[in-house]
Order: sequence, then structure tokens, then C-alpha cells
Amino acid sequence: HDVERIVRGLPKVSLHCHLIGSVQAATVVDLARKHGVPLDGGRTAENLFDHGSYEDLDEFLRVLDVVGAVIRDVDDFRRVTYESLTEGGAAHNVLYREIFLSPPGHPGVPYPTILEGVRAGMRDAEVDTGIRSALIVGLNRNDTAASAVELVETVVAHRADDVLGIGLDYSEAIGPPERFWKAFRMAGAAGLERTAHSESGPPHHIETLLDLLGCTRVDHGYHVVDDEAMTRRCVEERIPFTCTPVSSDIGRYSGSGDGSHRRIREMVDAGLVVTIDSDDPPMFGTDPTNDYRVLAHALGYGLDDLARFSRNGVEAAWLDEADRAALR
Ligand code: HPA
Ligand code: ZN
Repeated sequence: HDVERIVRGLPKVSLHCHLIGSVQAATVVDLARKHGVPLDGGRTAENLFDHGSYEDLDEFLRVLDVVGAVIRDVDDFRRVTYESLTEGGAAHNVLYREIFLSPPGHPGVPYPTILEGVRAGMRDAEVDTGIRSALIVGLNRNDTAASAVELVETVVAHRADDVLGIGLDYSEAIGPPERFWKAFRMAGAAGLERTAHSESGPPHHIETLLDLLGCTRVDHGYHVVDDEAMTRRCVEERIPFTCTPVSSDIGRYSGSGDGSHRRIREMVDAGLVVTIDSDDPPMFGTDPTNDYRVLAHALGYGLDDLARFSRNGVEAAWLDEADRAALR
């Protein structure tokens, strides 16, 4: 109805969306058939994305591995990127997206193959819908610090204008941020932007992100509000936080799985620069319109409040002033 139409039509900027997490279940099944690989444990399009099981992040990451393993050749990457940017982006009036890639999530696939396919999808999506996009390479914190360094070396060796920076994802419980200081320092020296996930981590992890890893954004960052001084600092420095209401509610970080989105409300009330996105849309049964709508409903936000999340996205995007102005 009306609210749906208005929220869908609101211009959006998407800064926290993982490619592997944005593949529709039917596409996963298709690609598995194409490559002749059985889907692990008798999974089907109907039961592949079982949101109820993701309270345990490890179970979520296992499903992510199933998806990543069927995206193998240039055309696979082109297809999933195109679908994510068109049906999963432009259809919700997403004007610009910075896509998280996870090269370690596609075992055996050379980085240039990923880039070639993803770029073709980005190009086709822009031609067909006008959506613009760029890339962030996510380091996997379940891997060693040495493999993170290797991945940054690979990214730098294949340096390209549309790869704007690096991120840090997968399990915070396994890989604390400080372990990856060297990879982040190398990325910084090569002129890459930096962000990192801090969803369940304590406020001092955010200090590590800013001061040791050189991050200019924080993904999630819900625990910043547990520390008044850290909150004040992030307000003063206008550090953007890329929040994901639905995925974090299911993962029980943004409130307590009760739909209250309490931490996001506290972050907004504190004056932090908050953006809204879906993280892994089909895996969490959501999409860009739904995340805005859910948050508006839970926190009583009106159109002005929602538009502010989009404006924050324009400010937080890793674009130069001319490209930023084009989004306003
Ligand atoms: N959390 C952590 N790492 C990830 C996610 C996520 O939701 N999606 C892809 N990598
Ligand atoms: Zn994420």
C-alpha cells in the first residue's frame, strides 16, 4: 500500500551488503545444478535460508559457504551481481551500492575471475537501471593474519579504480580486530579505504578499528553506545555506522532479538551518523525497502528520519565530491 510505495521510492545508498549474502535461493539451486554439485545436506531453495537457525553465527557462516562455493565462473559472478543490483537494489531505488566481496568465500576461484564477472554485472546493471556501484574486499577474520596480508597483496597487485577499500568480516569471536593490523596498514599505504565489522564486539574494539586499523567507517558498531566517551568521539568525528536492522535483530545484536532495535535508536539519539542496509538480504528474508520499513515501524520514524539515513549514506560513501554531489 501507500507506506510501502513511499518507502520503496525513497532514494537509498547501500553501504553494507555482501555479494554472497545477496544471492536468491533459486539462483543458488540453479548454479549448483549447473556445476553438478549437490547442495550440502539435502538443502533446497525452500529450506536453504532458515533465518531461525542464525542465532548461531557459525550456522549462518556455514550457509554462506554453501552459497559461495557455487559461484565459480565469470558468468556466475556476473549473474549474481546483476541480480543483486537490479531486483535487489535498483527496484528499491538504491542509487548507489558499495558491494562487499569475499574472495576467500569462493575456494579455488582466482581474484581476477571474481573481478571480471562482478564488473560485468555492475556494468550491465548500470546500463539497464542506472544504479551505480563500487567494491569493498572483505578480509575473512576466521583466516590467519598472514592470509589477510596475502589477500591485500592480491588486491593491490590488481589495483582498480572501482575497488575502493577493504573490510573485515566473518566471526568476531574467532578473529579480534588487532590481529589484522598489518593487512590494514598495507591497505592504507596503498591508498585503500578501510572499514570493519564490529557487531558483537565491545566498545574498545571500535577504538582499535579507528586508531590501529585506520577505519573511517564501522560496520554495525552497536556496542559503541555502551561507552559514553567513545560515543562522544564518534559523534565529533562523524564516524559512520552501517547498521542492518533485520539481520542484526535475527542475529540478536541490535536489540535482543525482540524487534526493539534499541541500540540503533540509542545511536541515532546520541547523534551518531547511522546508515541503514540489509547485510545479506535473501538470507535474512529482507530487502532495502523492508529494512527501512521495519525500523520506521519499530522506532516510530517518519519520512524525514528515513531520508536522513539516506543522506548519511551519501556522506559516508567512499566517493569524491563530484560523485557524491551526483547522489544528492
Ligand atoms: N556477518 C559477518 N560476516 C559476514 C556477514 C555477516 O552478516 N555476511 C557476510 N559475511
Ligand atoms: Zn555484514
